[in-house]
Amino acid sequence: MSRDIRELLADKEFQRKMEKLAGLYPEERSALLAALHLCESETGCCGEEFQEYIAGKLGIPRASVKGVVTFYEMFHEKPRGKYLVQVCRTLPCMLAGAEILLDHICGKLGIRPGGTTKDGKFTLVTVECLACCDRGPSLMINDTLYTGITPEGFDKVIKELD
Ligand code: FES
Repeated sequence: MSRDIRELLADKEFQRKMEKLAGLYPEERSALLAALHLCESETGCCGEEFQEYIAGKLGIPRASVKGVVTFYEMFHEKPRGKYLVQVCRTLPCMLAGAEILLDHICGKLGIRPGGTTKDGKFTLVTVECLACCDRGPSLMINDTLYTGITPEGFDKVIKELD
């Protein structure tokens, strides 16, 4: 379960972890990616409030923090669903049927890429190559990779998710 950002920022244990992270690098600002990962794993996103906090903590301009958060696919500014569905949209997967699969997933979940289902269960995004180009179409649901997946296969997979 994702934690509330205010609760996280007030948590002494979290503050200790942040101090430790900042101390691991010759320059505190180098701890940014690790700090973002920590926030993402605890709260499911790196929203404005955390961006402001970490910018002040590490002495980095707020715009630079935002730039990093929005550059990398693994960071999110808004809370995502319990299951993050990442569909590869790179050419080999598209040629193998990713576009049809993506259309199916959009219809099945009732959302477009970037969206989250109303019940907060699924967030759908498109990503670049998942490094299984010869076995596409490829997608990931949280940390699990699926290759050669069909629309029917996707339906079967999500049926098993609670
Ligand atoms: S192109 Fe989809 S996994 Fe590489």
